Order: sequence, then structure tokens, then C-alpha cells
Amino acid sequence: MMITQCLITGASQGIGRATAIALSKTNLYDRLLLVARSSEGLDKTMQLCDEKTQTVPLAFDLSKLDEIDAFAEAIYNEYGEMDALLNIAGYADPKPLIDTTAELLKATFTINVYSLVLLTREVAKHMRKKRSGKILNVASTAGSGARPGWLAYASSKAAVISISETLSSELSEYGIQVYCISPGRCATELRAKLAPMEDASTIMQPEAVANAIVSVLHDDGLIDGQNIVVRQQVK
Ligand SMILES: NC(=O)c1ccc[n+]([C@@H]2O[C@H](COP(=O)([O-])OP(=O)(O)OC[C@H]3O[C@@H](n4cnc5c(N)ncnc54)[C@H](OP(=O)(O)O)[C@@H]3O)[C@@H](O)[C@H]2O)c1
Repeated sequence: MMITQCLITGASQGIGRATAIALSKTNLYDRLLLVARSSEGLDKTMQLCDEKTQTVPLAFDLSKLDEIDAFAEAIYNEYGEMDALLNIAGYADPKPLIDTTAELLKATFTINVYSLVLLTREVAKHMRKKRSGKILNVASTAGSGARPGWLAYASSKAAVISISETLSSELSEYGIQVYCISPGRCATELRAKLAPMEDASTIMQPEAVANAIVSVLHDDGLIDGQNIVVRQQVK
């Protein structure tokens, strides 16, 4: 019997972890493959997932761009076809223009853009053959509109919005749906770096974004790559 599978990056904490937990409680996928660097974080995510869904930890550093094709090949050899890829992993180190270095741009774009594109390419090669699949990219509200002091992060997320629109159009002929979710402020480690003075209890929690992602994954061909903003005011 064929089993349904979803590959999730950034699954060791924050929105990726919350999404894995939320998905494990649905009947959408039989197995979730969880990617991040932290094995400890992935183990914790697995413990929090519902047992009715299988979970597999795949510790990998997505900044190793030259190894992404071999990583993906190993996943396909071991586990078979993917029904969905969720590109959730992200990096932020907010700095104003004056302090923006080549290293900062490289670190930010390596995770938020380059690794996303390369992993998507490898997964899409397989999805094209089976003529179905869903790819969901997590961008940000920072990707549209001005974010003074966040140049590298905001521009990398603008790229994710653009990439999603392009791929939605490019891959539709192969039966692949591409989605783009742009969360607003959400209480995670990454947000604490962007806004260290903020009270995390007053902003959207990762579970709210996870629920939005699960809703979008239920789509049956009506959503097509447009930027979907997910925002919640918490009093
Ligand atoms: N929080 C917000 O307010 C907000 C708003 C809009 C968009 N977003 C986006 O939401 C996504 C999830 O972020 P989050 O807020 O949940 O932040 P987070 O808690 O800091 O999680 C980031 C995730 O990315 C993974 N990651 C980072 N570098 C990696 C690498 N080199 N290789 C593999 N995995 C890596 C981390 O895992 P390891 O450290 O274990 O590798 C972690 O699982 C990001 O794309 C972020 O830009 C967040």
C-alpha cells in the first residue's frame, strides 16, 4: 500500500514544530519527515506529535548547498515519493544597511532562498514524474513593504514570495500546487531576534500559523501561489 508523506524543514522548533504537531493530528499524511540541524529539537517535536502519524528525524544542515541533491536522493531512496514539501526553515539576523555585510547577506539568503530553491528543485523532479504534489513556502509579511533595519531578512522573504509565484506558474502543468504563507509577528526564537523587547505572549503563537498551513494543505486546486498573509492580534 502506498503511504502519503510530507517533508518539513525547520521542524525542530517554532512554526515548523507546531506544523508537524498539527499535521500529525490530521489524516493528511501517513508519515512526516522532519528536517533541521538539531537532533534534540527534532526528537522533541516527534515526542509531541500524535502517534497515529509516523515521524522520521532527518538531521541536516541546509546551509550545505552542495549536499542538498544527495540528501534529497537519500530520502527518496529510503522513503519513496513525497506528497508535500513544506519549506519552513528560516534565518534572521536583523541589521541596518550600514552594518550589512556580504557574510550576513550570504547567511540569510543561503537558508531563506538558496536552500529552499535547491531542495524544491530536487523534490519537484520527482513530483513532475508522478504529476502531483504540494510545495508550501513560508515567506513573511516582512517580504512586502518596508522593514527598516531588516534589509537582508526582508529582501530574502520578498524573494520567497516571488519564487512562489513563479513556481506556481511553472509547475502547474505537472500537477504541482505551490503555496506561499506569510506570517506576521509570531512568538518564536526567530521573532525574539527580530524584536527582542516584545512580549511574546501578546503576539500570534506558532499554533495559529500551523493551523493556517494545515488549512491550505487541504486545498484541492483553488489556491495558486498567491501570497497568503496570516496575522492574528492577541490582546
Ligand atoms: N516568527 C515570526 O514572527 C515569523 C514571521 C514571518 C515568517 N517567519 C518564518 O517562519 C519560518 C519559521 O521560523 P520560526 O519563526 O519558527 O523560527 P525558529 O523557531 O527560529 O525556527 C527556525 C527553524 O529553521 C531551522 N533552520 C535554521 N537554519 C537551518 C539550517 N542551516 N539547516 C536546517 N534547518 C535550519 C531551525 O532548525 P535548527 O536550528 O535545528 O537547524 C528551526 O527549526 C522562517 O522561515 C521564518 O522566516 C517567522
